[in-house]
Amino acid sequence: MEALRREHPRSGFRSGESRVDEWLATKALQHQSKRLSTTRVLLDAADNIASYYTLATGQVDFTELPHELTHNLPKRVLPVAILAWLGVSVGHQKQGLGKRLLAQALRDCYEAGQVFPFVAVILDCLNNSAKAFYQQWDFQPLPGHPNRLHLSAGNLTALMKSDS
Ligand SMILES: CC(C)(COP(=O)(O)OP(=O)(O)OC[C@H]1O[C@@H](n2cnc3c(N)ncnc32)[C@H](O)[C@@H]1OP(=O)(O)O)[C@@H](O)C(=O)NCCC(=O)NCCS
Repeated sequence: MEALRREHPRSGFRSGESRVDEWLATKALQHQSKRLSTTRVLLDAADNIASYYTLATGQVDFTELPHELTHNLPKRVLPVAILAWLGVSVGHQKQGLGKRLLAQALRDCYEAGQVFPFVAVILDCLNNSAKAFYQQWDFQPLPGHPNRLHLSAGNLTALMKSDS
């Protein structure tokens, strides 16, 4: 994986989900230069973008998180890591790349969390298919937000320790 740069062919990326493609083509670099998010890409043999993900930090009010996660935390907004975007190009899908990409994105979150702690990783699913993909890895819906999933920092740590 490498950090997104201007030379990368961003507008040719097609994942089958136009919002994922448009973000990469029009916003990802801009947001990265403004230090709002970081995007990492994986290039294929032809130097086309095979897959990418975008991470950011955020805050969520404790009322939006499940009680199991917040019962011993301060009753205020809490820091979270956000897996904002993730996509695999159509020609590289169904070969295990999405799974490896998610593992790397979670590894980045975990490592960043050693320095800038957060209570959960959250993400918004654009469709039911993406939701099914993420739910294979312990991501759970947030109460009242069926398309917003979270993975607690505790479960992230357990996942990373079981993987290493
Ligand atoms: C969702 C996406 C990232 C999956 O990438 P992929 O490279 O095809 O996924 P993988 O080949 O690594 O599949 C990993 C596992 O997830 C499963 N899976 C893949 N896509 C899935 C889907 N849409 N629904 C349910 N399960 C899915 C696979 O069957 C596989 O399971 P297995 O390990 O038991 O065989 C890819 O289809 C994509 O980019 N979609 C469009 C963009 C998008 O919706 N992004 C997410 C929202 S931001």
